[in-house]
Amino acid sequence: MADGGSPATERSLSEMLRDIEALTALADGWDEAARSGAQARAEAIDALNAEAFRRLIRHLQGVDGMGAALKSAAADDVVYAVLRRHGILRASLFERVDAALDTVRPMLASHGGDAELVSVEDATATVRFLGACDGCPASALTFYAGVKKAIQEQVPQITDVKQAKGLGGGGGDQVHFTSPFAAYQKEGWSKAADLDDVPDGSTQVFEVDGHSVFISRFGDRVTCFENACAHMGMAMDGGEIADGFITCPYHEFKYSLESGECLTAPEVQLQPHGVRVVGDRIEIRVTQ
Ligand code: FES
Repeated sequence: MADGGSPATERSLSEMLRDIEALTALADGWDEAARSGAQARAEAIDALNAEAFRRLIRHLQGVDGMGAALKSAAADDVVYAVLRRHGILRASLFERVDAALDTVRPMLASHGGDAELVSVEDATATVRFLGACDGCPASALTFYAGVKKAIQEQVPQITDVKQAKGLGGGGGDQVHFTSPFAAYQKEGWSKAADLDDVPDGSTQVFEVDGHSVFISRFGDRVTCFENACAHMGMAMDGGEIADGFITCPYHEFKYSLESGECLTAPEVQLQPHGVRVVGDRIEIRVTQ
C-alpha cells in the first residue's frame, strides 16, 4: 500500500455496487414525485461527475507520461467501471468478445449448455464450454459453426478462437467411461443395453424411452445418437455402417458415429444423447 494516501480499508467494487442497489431499492416504496426527484438528482450528479472526469482526463493526457499512467489506472476495476459508465472508456476487447458470445448463448442453452470466455490475448479468444456442451461430441461442431463465427463477425480483431479444456469428463466412482452430459446430469438415465451388447468397434440400434438410437463403441468411448437423419428425419438403421460412419439409405448423407458430424452437409449433425457406462450397463439420457 502506498505511503500516506490510501484509506485503511479499501472497499471492493461489488460492495459499493451492492450499496447502490440497496439504496436504489429504498426508492421503490416512494411515491412517483419523490422517485422522480431522486432520479433527477442522481442523474445531475452523474452528469457533473462525467463532465469532471472528461475534463480531468483531457488535461492529464497533455502531460508527458500520463497516457501510460491513465492506462494503468484504468486497469483498476473501480476506475474502469466508473469511466465505462460515463462512456469515457470504450468497452474492452474482452467485453466485446463476451458480448458476441452472449448472442450464441441462447443457442447453447437450448442444448443444456453454456460457454464462458476464458481469455482474450492479442487476437486470440479462448472459450470454454460448460454444462451439456462440455464433452459433447457435437460441441466441436457447435463451437466452430456458432461461437467462432459469432465472435469473428462481431469482433473482427479476433483472428483465432480456441476452445479451452472443459471442466467435466472423467465420470463418477462407478462410471468407467462417459460421453455427453454424464458429469452434469444426475437424473433421467435409462438402461439402454448391456455393455457386451455393443462390442468394441460396433454400432447397434436400441429402443430407449420411445427413441430409436444408435450406440457405438470406440475403444473407451461410447456415443449415442438419435436414429434420425438430419436431412429429413428418416430412420437410418438400414443404412451402411462402415469404419465408424453411417450412410443414410435415403439420400446418402454420411455421418460420423463418433462425433455426429455430417460429412455431406457440415452445417447439420446427428442429435446426440447423453451416455454413461455404469458397471456393465450402458445408460443413456435422452435429450429433446
Ligand atoms: S433423409 Fe437421410 S439423406 Fe435424406
